[in-house]
Amino acid sequence: MREPAAPELSPPAGTVAAAPAEAPLIAATGLSKRFPLGSGKRAPVLHAVDAVDLALRRGESVGLVGESGCGKSTLSRLLARLLDPTEGTISFEGRDIGTIPARAFATSGTRGKIQLVFQDATDSLDPRQTARQAIAEPLLRLGIAGDVDERVRRVADEVGLPPELLGRWPHQLSGGQRARVGIARALAPEPSLLILDEPTAALDVSVQAVVLQLLARLRRERGLTYLFVSHDLNVVRLLCDRVVVMYLGRVVEEGPAAQVFDAPGHPYTRALISAIPGSGRAPVPLAGEVRSPIDPDPAACRFHGRCPDGDAACAKAMPRLRAVPGSSPLHRVACLKMPG
Ligand SMILES: Nc1ncnc2c1ncn2[C@@H]1O[C@H](COP(=O)(O)OP(=O)(O)O)[C@@H](O)[C@H]1O
Ligand SMILES: [Mg+2]
Repeated sequence: MREPAAPELSPPAGTVAAAPAEAPLIAATGLSKRFPLGSGKRAPVLHAVDAVDLALRRGESVGLVGESGCGKSTLSRLLARLLDPTEGTISFEGRDIGTIPARAFATSGTRGKIQLVFQDATDSLDPRQTARQAIAEPLLRLGIAGDVDERVRRVADEVGLPPELLGRWPHQLSGGQRARVGIARALAPEPSLLILDEPTAALDVSVQAVVLQLLARLRRERGLTYLFVSHDLNVVRLLCDRVVVMYLGRVVEEGPAAQVFDAPGHPYTRALISAIPGSGRAPVPLAGEVRSPIDPDPAACRFHGRCPDGDAACAKAMPRLRAVPGSSPLHRVACLKMPG
C-alpha cells in the first residue's frame, strides 16, 4: 500500500533521523558492476564498481564523492535498480531487490519508492513531453491510481513550479525550472529514497544554491533519505550527514561528514579536501594519472602509484576498510598505511 501523500503529516526532521540500531532503508553488500569490453573470455573488463558495501538509514543524507569516472553514477544506477549488478546483494526495507532484473523492477511496487534525479534535466527530460506530462509519466507507468492531474499540480507546487509553466516544453523552461521538473517527477510516486546524481552540476551557481535549498527543505518536510552524488565537496558538506569517498570503483573512506572533513584519514580524501578553494589546507600532491579501471590488478591498492604515502607493500595488498583510531566508530578508511 502507498503511504498518504500529505507532506504536512510527515514527522519533523528530528524524529526522522533513526536510532542507529534501526534496520537500514537500503543496504548493499559486495556490490560490483563490471562491463566486458567486447565478447569472448579474453575481452578486457572494466571494473566500474568493485565490492562496495553501503547502507543508508531512514532519513539520512549521504554524500557520495570522488572524481569523474570513479563509479558514482554506476553505483547510483545499481542502487536505483536501473542496472543489474554483476555481484553482490541489495536489500530495500529488508527485502532483496538485487536479484529482480532491472526490467522487471521498472514495473514493481518498489520502483516508486527509490527514485533517481539525474545530473542534467535537459538530457533526462523528453523534448516531446510538457512539464505536466513529464511529471505525470512515472505515475501513469506505475499505474498509480487517483487523480493524476491533482497529484502533478500538488508536487509542482511543492517544488515551486507555477501551474502556468506545466504546459511548457523543456526548451521553454530555464535550467532551474527544468531541474524542478526533474525533482517533481522523482517525487511524484512518493519515494522514500532519492538518489541525486549531481543534480545541480549543470546549473549556474546562483540557481544551484536555490535548488540545493529546495532539496534540503524537501528532505526535511518529507523525511526523505538522500544519496547525494557530487564532486563538489562544499555542497556535500552543506547537505550531508555522512560522506562516502570512492576511488576507481572502491570505497576508500566513509564516515560522519564532520569527521571526514575535519580529519580525513585517506590520502585521497586529504587531497580532495585540500583542493577545496579556501580549505586552508596545504595541497596534497598526487603523482601520475588515475589508473585505468580496465582489468585492474586485484592484488594492489587502486590508489597505488598516485598516493603520496604509498610504498611497495601497497602494490601487493588491497586494503580493506578499517575503523580510524580515535575517531567515530563509523569513520572507516581503506589504507594500509593507516596506523592501528
Ligand atoms: N555502459 C558502460 N559500458 C562500459 N563502461 C561503462 C559504462 N558505464 C560506465 N562505464 C565506465 O565505468 C566507469 C565509472 O563510470 P561512472 O559510474 O559514470 O563514473 P562517475 O559517475 O563517477 O563519473 C567509467 O570508467 C566509465 O567509463
Ligand atoms: Mg557520473
